[in-house]
Amino acid sequence: MCGIIGYIGPKEAADVLIDGLKRLEYRGYDSAGVAVLNGGGIEIERAEGKLTKLEAKIGKHKPHGHLGVGHTRWATHGVPSERNAHPHRAGDVVVVHNGIIENYEALRKGLLQKGCRFRSETDTEIFCHLINEELKEHKEIAKAIRSALKKVRGSYAIVVLYAKEPKKLFAAKSGSPLVLGFGDKEALVASDVPALLPYTRDVSFLEDDEFAILEEGHLSVFDEKGHPKPAEKTHIDWNPVMAEKAGFKHFMLKEIFEQPRVVEQTLMGRVQLGSGKLTLEGIEKVFGKKGFPFKKIEIIACGTSYHAGLVGKYWLEQLAHVPTVVSLASEFRYAEPLIGKETLVISISQSGETADTLAATKMAKEMKAKVLGICNVLGSSLGRMADNTLYTHAGPEIGVASTKAFTGQLTVLYLLTLEIAKRRDKISKTELIKKINEVRSAPQYLEKILENADAIKKIALGCKEAPHFLFIARGPHYPLALEGALKLKEIAYVHAEGFAAGELKHGPIALVDKGVPVVALVPPSDTYEKILSNVEEVKARGAYTIAEGEVGDKHLADKVDAVIPVPKTFYSITPLLYILPLQLFAYYIADAKGCDVDMPRNLAKSVTVE
Ligand code: F6R
Repeated sequence: MCGIIGYIGPKEAADVLIDGLKRLEYRGYDSAGVAVLNGGGIEIERAEGKLTKLEAKIGKHKPHGHLGVGHTRWATHGVPSERNAHPHRAGDVVVVHNGIIENYEALRKGLLQKGCRFRSETDTEIFCHLINEELKEHKEIAKAIRSALKKVRGSYAIVVLYAKEPKKLFAAKSGSPLVLGFGDKEALVASDVPALLPYTRDVSFLEDDEFAILEEGHLSVFDEKGHPKPAEKTHIDWNPVMAEKAGFKHFMLKEIFEQPRVVEQTLMGRVQLGSGKLTLEGIEKVFGKKGFPFKKIEIIACGTSYHAGLVGKYWLEQLAHVPTVVSLASEFRYAEPLIGKETLVISISQSGETADTLAATKMAKEMKAKVLGICNVLGSSLGRMADNTLYTHAGPEIGVASTKAFTGQLTVLYLLTLEIAKRRDKISKTELIKKINEVRSAPQYLEKILENADAIKKIALGCKEAPHFLFIARGPHYPLALEGALKLKEIAYVHAEGFAAGELKHGPIALVDKGVPVVALVPPSDTYEKILSNVEEVKARGAYTIAEGEVGDKHLADKVDAVIPVPKTFYSITPLLYILPLQLFAYYIADAKGCDVDMPRNLAKSVTVE
């Protein structure tokens, strides 16, 4: 939610800022803007809409200078408009901000009484005026900013440019992410790592209430009391190309096609073919050396990560025999959950910055539960908050609709299930080796599904005009039905619902009418016959039936209008495979409808507001 960037160094700041904003645009695209400082003063350019609008506006009249800040917005306070676009300015102070100021009304009232004039409806402009007010007391800008921040309640990551300090930028955060980049004779700051990758892979994640000063080739960090502290450097092994489209039409398509590699990399170093050895980094910090010291598991997550958690529940209960509850983080917080020392909390988040997941995780820690994170972004807030974190090695996920992170999360959840089953003596060595071999074979099966992408496209395009879609499944595939429907809703803007197939007759079947596409997930399983009966039921009511099933399943093919074949594999890893055709299905429909697949309306990646 909102992407911010700051640069100081020998390059043209505007170029670095625009390039960085392109890499951050997935965080919000309601408006964009840059401010650059040069001998002639501060030049600000802003435009409503996507970044291309700002680029067009700037055209050949790029602001020149070597110090600047940029912002891409997901609107909270104030409609998307040029007036509300960041950077905001009052006097010599320019601010870009990500987050929400909760006591904004009261602060604004006080500032108005002092004679401040507001030019926008945003909460961000508060910062500019507050800092100006503080400058009347504190001559030093850093002190004025820190003092202004003490008056603010809510979440923020800000970068401040002050015209009277033309060789410095100032950054601070509380609740929203900010990462500092150590460049060669330059310094950068941004909301997320991909914006820094073309310039440096040495970064430092700012902690809440810390403050940083950026100068050419130098970064100073101060703790909450204002004492200097060494910046903890982390080397990122992502490269800039990973955050580019690499010839694909959209990031989402590229990321769908990356999934065999994502599963491969997430397994790498953790399991080996023919061996029962599992290496889950740092797991002893939570589980101890041996055994499993918990009575139950509580999984908390949002959106797609929540769906991964739902699959995890089936695995954890069926293979490791641990009672598992999966909660939406936004509900968990207000539900008075019954957790404590005996509970293992697994927090799942691609970004590691989702506000609801972080708040729920914090609450779980306060209730004395141990927290294991599953996350894709090194150095993210979740990674720092959890007692230990298992990373999905999916690389940067830029498409707003999550795809490869989901398969990465499933891979980690599967390994974690095996680890817990092993620690609880619920799995024999032979069975464990078999299961590890199964998951090691997933990448090659995913490749096979991708080879069939054109056939999936044909099926998808056949129903692209349908206004409603239903997805049905049973067991661990039921969460995939939810996820398939979510993908279609968010990128193609069509009504889609996922149902546990057995629930159809309890109400949802009333939605079925002539031609309504019903996508059924029908892998060979104990419930194969039952779900086939559900397919018959919707067919009898005129549905257009599409089934995902095992390659060569003639019985299934005879019953439905179209089949998406999935390679024959072991039942326990089928969720890892059956999701991929559903992602492609949604993608091809959205693309054919001309939707902006990577930047769907009203959405943003990384939901850092509650
Ligand atoms: C859907 C999607 C969202 C995220 C959700 C949680 O495609 O991307 O539903 O899954 O906002 O995000 P993370 O996993 O970053 O916590």
